[in-house]
Amino acid sequence: MKRKFAMAILLAAVACLMTARGNAQTKGVDTEGHAWWQHAVFYEIYPRSFADSNNDGVGDLKGITAKLDYLKELGVNAIWITPCFPSPQVDFGYDVSDYEAIDPMYGTMEDFDRLVAEGKKRDIRVILDFVVNHTSDQHKWFIDSKSSKTSAHRDWYIWRDGKRPGQPPNNWLSTFGTAAWTFDAKTGQYYYHYFYPQQPDLNWRNPAVEKAMLDVTRFWYKRGVAGFRLDAVDTLYEDPNLTDNPVLPGTDKFGRPNMDEIHNKKLPEVHDAMKKLRTVADEYGSVLIGETWTSNVDQLKDYYGAKNDELQMPMDLMMTGFKGLSADEYRKHIAAVNAAGHWPVYVITNHDIVRSNTRYADGVHNDDIAKMMAALYLTLRGSAIMYYGEEIGMENNDPKSKDDVQDPIGKLGWPLEKGRDGERTPMQWNHETNAGFSVAKPWLPVPASAITHNVASEMKDPDSVLSFYRKLLGLRHTEAALLEGDYVSTNEDNPNVLTYLRRYKGEAVLVILNMSAVEQKVPFELSAAGLREPKLEVLLTSFHKQVKGAFAVMPMEPYSVFIAKITK
Ligand code: NOJ
Repeated sequence: MKRKFAMAILLAAVACLMTARGNAQTKGVDTEGHAWWQHAVFYEIYPRSFADSNNDGVGDLKGITAKLDYLKELGVNAIWITPCFPSPQVDFGYDVSDYEAIDPMYGTMEDFDRLVAEGKKRDIRVILDFVVNHTSDQHKWFIDSKSSKTSAHRDWYIWRDGKRPGQPPNNWLSTFGTAAWTFDAKTGQYYYHYFYPQQPDLNWRNPAVEKAMLDVTRFWYKRGVAGFRLDAVDTLYEDPNLTDNPVLPGTDKFGRPNMDEIHNKKLPEVHDAMKKLRTVADEYGSVLIGETWTSNVDQLKDYYGAKNDELQMPMDLMMTGFKGLSADEYRKHIAAVNAAGHWPVYVITNHDIVRSNTRYADGVHNDDIAKMMAALYLTLRGSAIMYYGEEIGMENNDPKSKDDVQDPIGKLGWPLEKGRDGERTPMQWNHETNAGFSVAKPWLPVPASAITHNVASEMKDPDSVLSFYRKLLGLRHTEAALLEGDYVSTNEDNPNVLTYLRRYKGEAVLVILNMSAVEQKVPFELSAAGLREPKLEVLLTSFHKQVKGAFAVMPMEPYSVFIAKITK
């Protein structure tokens, strides 16, 4: 039988309980059997935009190394660097022309080795981004493939005759707004590309391709890389018969018919490739993170592998598609993810998605919303992947006109599709020129809001988004219940407030998130805690007014956070 009780608590001097705590050291496996990556906080770095050490307007590896102390203090355990390999930069690095080198724009292999070594000193691991689906059209494999129908690498890519003269082999479309097939006049065939024409898809059905790609991972593991984020895994395989995709009603942002991409996405063979990549990763004790776009939890579950033999960390990108802030929607989703029985990987934004601080900002409570979202994804059971700048409340800075756009999809799809420049602008380090990113004109513009939202200023302000993140990450690394505890949802019928406990042994951490713009009175309904006569210690709030007194219900300010520890 459920036992309900209301608890009166005295809130006082919340701030004094919120002293910064040391970060847990990254370990092998803990007493609960959790590996280092299960408790780690991952931080995604878009290297073009993080820190520019040589002042050419584009970030670089030395810039990242110089900021490791900042990341360490923030509470980051691993950095995922988006592609920094040689590339013509058509897709800003996701068009790789050499998988085993560093693009001179970002530095040298020596700079990379130093970054790994300096990271190691600080217990910060380095994760690289492996573009498995395609190479650049400037990669030597493709240059050879294109040279003749009988070249050694011809079958490393997907070449086909047209259906009829002047007609592509089938109706598949590139997700980047063009046809998926480009005709090569020299050899009289079409090659397939799910992304830009300069990103030809590799033919993973060719064992030589598979071997070459597995060898690439070995090359980097030997250099000390702790794992990979695997790019675009959904599209690794295509139906060899090239069956047309069913056409759906309506058009996409580029004005083309919508398609049900059943013949060129999420083919079962993808899982064989994941298993092979995992076997190599296991040889080096490394972790695989997947760019796994799924429409439901069952699909996400598949990426862990039936025997847990695929990706350790398939990203749950589903929350990035939530249109508003609905406690019900989050509650249902989190329950489904937990019920699936795997270790979740929460992501709220990245370099392809409008920043969460922009998606949910209401112009009045922007910083409160940023703190509330932080408390959500950083107190749930699972691993968390931050995106650079979220911790200072960075918002999108979208191009104002088509002429300003850098991202090709923005040029093609303007104005419906503005491209991804807005979420990739330079990290805001201080309120000086170009937000301290570079003394040269940065490749993307810094927004006016950098005056207030930057590391240096926020570091000094105890109420800033950054100060909140630092305290929150401190708790995440030290509270056993946040590290190991199960997830128990409470106050389930409240549509505005998400409340849950992270319960571990004799204690629990209570998290209350007001997802609405008005104050909510939240009763302390803690029956799920199963604790008799609990005592409550406030760990962190985002309240503007200090709340003092005894409460049976918690008055939650708009978009506020309340985190407390409950002990016997
Ligand atoms: C997903 C990456 O995150 C995105 O930035 C890129 O454009 C595509 N994959 C193609 O590699």
